[in-house]
Amino acid sequence: MSKILKILNLIFCIVIRTAHLSQMAGTMRAVQFQTGGLEKMKIGEVPIPVLRKKEILIKVYASAINRADTLQRKGAYPPPAGESDILGLEAVGTVDKLGPDCSQKWNIGDRVMALLAGGGNAEFVACREECLMPIPKKMSFTIAAAIPEVWLTAYQLLHTVGGVKAGDTVLIHAGGSGVGTAATQLSVLAKAKPLVTAGSIEKIDMAKSLGAVAGFNYKEGDFSLGVKQYTKDVGVNLILDCIGESFYNQNIESIANDGTWVVYGLLGGGKINADLLSKLLRKRITITGTTLRVRPIEYKESLVQNFTQNALPYFESGRLKPIIDKIFPLEQIGNAHQLMEENKNTGKIVLKIREEDGRDEL
Ligand SMILES: NC(=O)c1ccc[n+]([C@@H]2O[C@H](COP(=O)([O-])OP(=O)(O)OC[C@H]3O[C@@H](n4cnc5c(N)ncnc54)[C@H](OP(=O)(O)O)[C@@H]3O)[C@@H](O)[C@H]2O)c1
Repeated sequence: MSKILKILNLIFCIVIRTAHLSQMAGTMRAVQFQTGGLEKMKIGEVPIPVLRKKEILIKVYASAINRADTLQRKGAYPPPAGESDILGLEAVGTVDKLGPDCSQKWNIGDRVMALLAGGGNAEFVACREECLMPIPKKMSFTIAAAIPEVWLTAYQLLHTVGGVKAGDTVLIHAGGSGVGTAATQLSVLAKAKPLVTAGSIEKIDMAKSLGAVAGFNYKEGDFSLGVKQYTKDVGVNLILDCIGESFYNQNIESIANDGTWVVYGLLGGGKINADLLSKLLRKRITITGTTLRVRPIEYKESLVQNFTQNALPYFESGRLKPIIDKIFPLEQIGNAHQLMEENKNTGKIVLKIREEDGRDEL
């Protein structure tokens, strides 16, 4: 009996000492991976980030998954030079520490949402102060975690890049995706008319409940026929395209004269071997591409400011709402990636990193 007690005591001491050492050494739990499949991910103990100029340390309560994470895990989308190689393009939590040269804008304890180039799937993350936004009042961390990456992307696609105007028709592909559910709501806010494509009736119904005026299941036929019917053969003014190759011909058929076609993902491939340019010429189409992660800090700062001013207040009034498919604990990161790779999510997949004292349940 006493031998068992001694062993238990020893285990207890090791656990306490490890926890103590981890605090002393400034380490944290974070998602680590080696290039490859889902089984290559694990939760490891890594150093807490050291703050550079104008960076703020966030104590992370929740984060979320993006397609870029699954691509990065497979080795197809490395982080920009100098950025964290820990997965995670967004995180929400409280301000824990201010780095050198920070302004007076943020204070310790502020509840914030962070747009990141990486590092969000961890207990702490460093973020440039310009890329922080306040969490809307009364919103829990787990709901707020669904905002930064896809809502800023959607805002960028519509306004900064796409130049959407009131009355425009906007064709949004992957209407059930994180970006798609945000872009649909932001189109309505901009007084434009969103039309969506998606691969299931459930995703189309969700888009319609968010304000889409029409939805087409791309697995059941040529969506350009439905677009032409809705627009009385005029076509749409703007296409938000994260599919690429497999949709290009239907996009050409769907777009109006002088329309803008914004390419921001290539889920359906990136190679086109066809008579694209003559069609582009005849319709006077503008094709443009964009990625947010690698943009310079000034661009992100301006985007964050515009979004904070023009869109964030509508989350407080309930007119805009983050759509969340599922919340996983950090330890189930593999299940979260799997759900996304199987295209089963409608809206965001959120990661809960740590418990909050009551307010998270709001
Ligand atoms: N450029 C940027 O700055 C930027 C930033 C953020 C995200 N993105 C891109 O935006 C896209 C959406 O991201 P997300 O995180 O919102 O995605 P998500 O929630 O994972 O949704 C993506 C959806 O796209 C649909 N899809 C997948 N493969 C398809 C294919 N071959 N053809 C047609 N539809 C397909 C699937 O829905 P169905 O059931 O409808 O098929 C899937 O659920 C991704 O391509 C991502 O890389 C780009």
